[in-house]
Amino acid sequence: MSRLIVVSNRVSLPHPDGAQGGLAVALQAALREAGGLWFGWSGREVEKFTGSVSFEEIDGVRSAVVDLEPQDVEEYYNGFANRTLWPLFHYRIDLAKYNRSFGSGYERVNKRFAEPLHVMIEPGDTVWINDYHLIPIASQLREHGVNNRIGFFLHTPWPPTRLLVSLPYHERLVRSMFAYDVIGFQTSEWLESFLHYCQNELGGTVDGEYVTVDGKTLRAAVCPIGIDFKNFLEAAKTPAAQEIAERTRISLRQLSMIVGVDRLDYSKGLEERLNSFETYLNRHTEAHRAVVLVQIAPPSRGEVEQYRNVREKLNEMAGRINGAFAEVDWTPIRYVNRGYSRDELAALYRAAKVGLVTPLRDGMNLVAKEYVAAQDPEDPGVLVLSRFAGAAAQMQEALLVNPYAPEEVADAIHTALTMPLAERKRRHNILLEGVRSEDVHWWRERFVRMIEEAPAHIGQDG
Ligand code: G6P
Repeated sequence: MSRLIVVSNRVSLPHPDGAQGGLAVALQAALREAGGLWFGWSGREVEKFTGSVSFEEIDGVRSAVVDLEPQDVEEYYNGFANRTLWPLFHYRIDLAKYNRSFGSGYERVNKRFAEPLHVMIEPGDTVWINDYHLIPIASQLREHGVNNRIGFFLHTPWPPTRLLVSLPYHERLVRSMFAYDVIGFQTSEWLESFLHYCQNELGGTVDGEYVTVDGKTLRAAVCPIGIDFKNFLEAAKTPAAQEIAERTRISLRQLSMIVGVDRLDYSKGLEERLNSFETYLNRHTEAHRAVVLVQIAPPSRGEVEQYRNVREKLNEMAGRINGAFAEVDWTPIRYVNRGYSRDELAALYRAAKVGLVTPLRDGMNLVAKEYVAAQDPEDPGVLVLSRFAGAAAQMQEALLVNPYAPEEVADAIHTALTMPLAERKRRHNILLEGVRSEDVHWWRERFVRMIEEAPAHIGQDG
């Protein structure tokens, strides 16, 4: 087996309390098996970039990280990654900022990462780059003479061509992707958009999963990410999970709980969700003093103004709706701006009769899968899921909704809360089987195999 070099903007080593996401756990397991290391940004800023690498090894997983200087963080992370590509890739060109300094900062940081990285890559290593922060890094590695097989997995959506062409120098960005041997997408929708772009904007040709542009061929395939199913089931049994389960049970009394858990991000459709819940309360007076929405929304990317705006807007909306509907002994929305550990979330999901996952656009959405995994199979809750989440492609037995349409979401909440047990079990059974079998280990094994199986010459000139 070849060594694995995982590269992503954020690097996550095993944590003593075990509180980390499924993706981190899966990549750590892969690194433990294959050896190699996880490379990326330390998350720290230093006054002046030095390029020096800090190595660390915890529990058999090795990492190598570099610090960035403030201008790098501003132009690369807060700039091109999160003010330009993130909104564009989530179809929000109204929010995307196209500053030249962001584009040049992005290329500079990718170069800065490639510099120490290429030295760590040994012949025969499999290189796996993750997400939109690092699209051009393979072309930088090739310039350093790296001939290894390199795969790229995009965790977000890929936008339709008509939107992508609004990005200045879009051809340059996409052409740089032909330094990869394999590119993985979460759904066939994003893959089709990528192929459409290559054919229509770059004059490329497509033959099955293989796409050729300027004489360079790569494999572009669908490989949907899953959750760490087994680990997640275990998480619900820990003392932390038991404690929050008990606290939740006491505080809910007879109330039916609807749960939403999202990073505070405009792509998650949180404003639309609160709007839909308000519509539901207006149409269903029987829900007053009987139903509560627990919305957990840890703040994210606070340096970027759109994230501050969405935070302000939600504070205002939650306050207004609660003010309009609350009684002395009932508040319809419990809006919580902090993160919870995986163990605690597992318990909260299990206590909720409805999982409300309504992003406006989402690469996958693992909350939907975790909600299903956490349910009691004998009395499962119902997943209400946006048709615009990547997860919808695999989760057709959820109640699929258009998150922009408040009445439709309100109807789905009502249907979910009143669904007979037999129907809940039927849907849950099918969903559970998918979440169990196509888990995060299945995903990473499949994707790593795709990279390893790429013919050595693919991606090279001629
Ligand atoms: C999304 C992205 C990830 C990113 C995560 C958290 O899931 O696809 O690449 O790491 O959000 O965002 P942050 O900016 O805090 O890393």
